[in-house]
Amino acid sequence: MNSAMRDLTPWSMRRFIMAAMPTRTLQSVQRRQWFAACVGMAMLPAASSGATRPQINLRFSHVVADETPKGLAVNLFKVLVEQRSGGRIGVQVFPNAQLYGDADEMQALQLGAVDLVAPSLSKFGRIGLPEFELFDLPFLFDDLNAVRRITQGPLGQRLLQGLLRQGLVGLGYFDNGFKQMSANRPLLEPKDFVGLRMRVQASQVIAAQMRALGARPVTLSFSETRQALANGVVDGTENPVSNFWTQGMDAVQSDLSLTNHGYLGYAVVANQRLWNYLSRGDRDLVTQALQDALGFANQMADSQNSKALDALRQARTTRIHTLSPAQRDLLRQAVQPVHLELARRIGSDWLQTLSEALGQ
Ligand code: LMR
Repeated sequence: MNSAMRDLTPWSMRRFIMAAMPTRTLQSVQRRQWFAACVGMAMLPAASSGATRPQINLRFSHVVADETPKGLAVNLFKVLVEQRSGGRIGVQVFPNAQLYGDADEMQALQLGAVDLVAPSLSKFGRIGLPEFELFDLPFLFDDLNAVRRITQGPLGQRLLQGLLRQGLVGLGYFDNGFKQMSANRPLLEPKDFVGLRMRVQASQVIAAQMRALGARPVTLSFSETRQALANGVVDGTENPVSNFWTQGMDAVQSDLSLTNHGYLGYAVVANQRLWNYLSRGDRDLVTQALQDALGFANQMADSQNSKALDALRQARTTRIHTLSPAQRDLLRQAVQPVHLELARRIGSDWLQTLSEALGQ
């Protein structure tokens, strides 16, 4: 069990559980067994809160569902902050783009209309930080340990420092995992992508990746993606399985191809004025709660994606394709030129430091 979980009262653990349940498929008993399996705990008693009215209220907006690595991390952060501050600091969570979506969450943060967001690293390019798109380079990372060498190393810190230029404070990174391709046909080789309109995040590296495969990139907000697939505005997309499953994309995509071609991760970012307004003690409390929640998120991100894949297999709504090593190599070769093509956008010094950090 993650250290963060140890100091949760039964009441706050119950609130975290209720927020974390995968509501899509499982019966109530299965849900509680699922979560007990997650945190390695026996079934939990209900308890009362006696919560006080918070003096400080942090508004945390994000675009995905609760049962995703990000949803779980943010809900745990909420419980830890409220628990450790004795209710003095409250955290209001707005998932599923309820409050702000991809198009406006960064601006809302800069204006102080919201206090915290956790966008994908692919979404910082459009606010003038193209160096973050280095995380989007296809087939860059062999595994999550390689990612951590960047996110938990000096390069990762330097990237977060750059957010100050935009009046934002970078607080930390966490994973979702590796992305898969989906469409209404198997995507096993570059020729399978030709002519497809593929939904992408607002990243020029990902757009170039799709063009290198002969597809047409279409930038759309995450919250619009499922509908755009249903209406045929786009033919396919890419995302880790936890996002694919929790958005119900299996109902509008007949084929999921396990390409593991790129990484999706997040950075937690605060409004700078809000951050400076907090006392030193409260900044430390919020930072520690976040580190604990992100540590937990990184521990369970992989299992969250595997559980979503299991649920997909059970549901039999989408055909799931595993690529042969030869097919994966063909894809890797087809998109390799993107690394060179986007070097100027990202910045050769960043890429130099990146390849040194990855030992490439
Ligand atoms: C996407 O837009 O596909 C993802 O970044 C959504 C998310 O935050 O996981």
